[in-house]
Amino acid sequence: MSETQVIPVKDKIASSAHVDAQSYEEMYRRSIEDPEGFWAEHGKRIDWMKPYSQIKDVSFGPDDVHIRWFADGTTNAAVNCIDRHLPAKKDQPAIIWEGDDPGEDKTITYGELHRQVCRMANILKARGVTRGDRVTIYMPMIPEAAYAMLACARIGAIHSVVFGGFSPDALAGRIEDCESTFVITADEGVRGGRKIPLKANTDKALTKCPGVRHVLVVRRTGGDIDWHEDRDLWFHEEFEKVGDDCPAEEMGAEDPLFILYTSGSTGKPKGVLHTTGGYLVFTSMTHEYVFDYKDGEVYWCTADVGWVTGHSYILYGPLANGATTLIFEGVPNYPDASRHWQVCDKHKVNIYYTAPTAIRALMREGEEPVKKTDRKSLRLLGTVGEPINPEAWMWYYKTVGEERCPVVDTWWQTETGGIMISPLPGAIDLKPGSATKPFFGVKPEIVDTNGNVQEGACQGNLCIADSWPGQMRTVYGDHERFIQTYFSTYPGKYFSGDGCRRDEDGYYWITGRVDDVINVSGHRMGTAEVESALVAHKKVAEAAVVGYPHDLKGQGIYAYVTLVAGEEPSEELRKELVQWVRQEIGPIASPDLIQWAPSLPKTRSGKIMRRILRKIAENDYSNLGDTSTLADPAVVDDLVENRMNR
Ligand code: WTA
Repeated sequence: MSETQVIPVKDKIASSAHVDAQSYEEMYRRSIEDPEGFWAEHGKRIDWMKPYSQIKDVSFGPDDVHIRWFADGTTNAAVNCIDRHLPAKKDQPAIIWEGDDPGEDKTITYGELHRQVCRMANILKARGVTRGDRVTIYMPMIPEAAYAMLACARIGAIHSVVFGGFSPDALAGRIEDCESTFVITADEGVRGGRKIPLKANTDKALTKCPGVRHVLVVRRTGGDIDWHEDRDLWFHEEFEKVGDDCPAEEMGAEDPLFILYTSGSTGKPKGVLHTTGGYLVFTSMTHEYVFDYKDGEVYWCTADVGWVTGHSYILYGPLANGATTLIFEGVPNYPDASRHWQVCDKHKVNIYYTAPTAIRALMREGEEPVKKTDRKSLRLLGTVGEPINPEAWMWYYKTVGEERCPVVDTWWQTETGGIMISPLPGAIDLKPGSATKPFFGVKPEIVDTNGNVQEGACQGNLCIADSWPGQMRTVYGDHERFIQTYFSTYPGKYFSGDGCRRDEDGYYWITGRVDDVINVSGHRMGTAEVESALVAHKKVAEAAVVGYPHDLKGQGIYAYVTLVAGEEPSEELRKELVQWVRQEIGPIASPDLIQWAPSLPKTRSGKIMRRILRKIAENDYSNLGDTSTLADPAVVDDLVENRMNR
């Protein structure tokens, strides 16, 4: 398929959208030429307790890196997501919850959301949680996960949501790092008909976290769990002890809203810190413009609240806009591959936002599961999380959206807080596989490896030249790491870690990570994390992990493992190691392929040559480049000979 294929904006869409091509150009130009003026105006889209007079206070280094937006304003995120909608929308659905079981669903109005969040907030307060405390949330996709996040926001506590698929060890590490004193979880989660032992995992994790005083447990399944009388609290019991009224804390724009752990190219996961005012302005604005959201529409983002997409585009962005947001507990192929489309029909979903990995999996099931549903309510489709191949894009556009719904391919990151590069449906012609153009206030730059900014059509590494309100502010507890990770490679710029091409029309094409981060089914994984899990096994001497192209997952995990002397490779050991990594990190980190490596290719100074390992994993070993710096070139022959991906 030619990359030059263009799908023009339809007139009907342009005329009803928030912006058309001309107004996009004008607004974009103004946002870049006069960021202060632009954001002074658009910052008003949320409600402030005390209005801001300062707009932007930013330094990208080299000596000092600080990022502040609307710094003297005060506000509260929960008030913006709930209270301010009550006069007009008390009885409008805020959340539609669809259970794993197709027979189970529930609608929560803005009025009910207010009551639930206030009660949850009062429970936290009654148990001593105050402003600035860290609360870890380890939950399935149930409405209480949203209540918990908003309850924290209401009282100024900082939430740290940990994805329910992470292991007890991974959970413990994240609790320890931010010194959480309170955990909110459920007895069990349910996904695809299977139970996930969240409370049992929490119990295991907490053997390593003596600082946690209380665990608030939501009853989801009624399954058997252990109970620690002095520590554990049932949500439904505490709920009866508190009142419906909970005044919201007045928070500074730069007070932390949440921490979210994400994988980097080195070391343990980083606690990405987002603050209150700018984040809310940016997520609500991108939600409204990118999805062209119109009042009364039903919007569904299929992400998990454990990832940033769930934070920004299930919860904060949509609710700040008074939208109806759908929360789905299940998976795309349960009970069968029609499920997502059935949910769209059942709840009359207008906007559907998912990941390329889900699209590819559903595409493999053929057209029939799609075609037997109606999908007439759908108006717009979106994707996020990894590059989408043009074939999957076209299938999404034609088969799911029947060429009626524009597809917005949205590029962004945990660090960026919100969408950075994406079509605006009424303004920007689509090209399958391209995230197209930058959002307002976003100034992308493509640099070569020496840091020279490229002009016109080019390829290189993607940086952002100036700040935007949704940008992360620091790595929790480690500002130096923040500076090192994002501002030292190309001084004075934010470096995304992604490669990117810009075509002659100024469209951006993300080519994937250029660092040691891999993207497996849209989940970010640090190769270093998987390596350290592997070497923690007593039979493993050394391990090197790289990504390789995978039809369904985008990238798969390929591990080269050197065993300790005296240990013999076997199929059994291979399975044991896969199981081991699942236990150490979680199922999303399971290696797809493990190759036994008598030794790893290293330079004379002992550095592993990952470039070579990547090539072999890609089954592209004919051109390994310069191997003359290898300490022992024969190592490579053995690895090529025994490669796993052929
Ligand atoms: C990748 C998810 C291509 C990219 C919101 C980025 C994408 C990483 C796209 C961030 C896209 C995200 N096209 N690649 N539309 N969206 N990515 O932090 O490599 O989980 O750096 O945030 O996902 O993943 P994260």
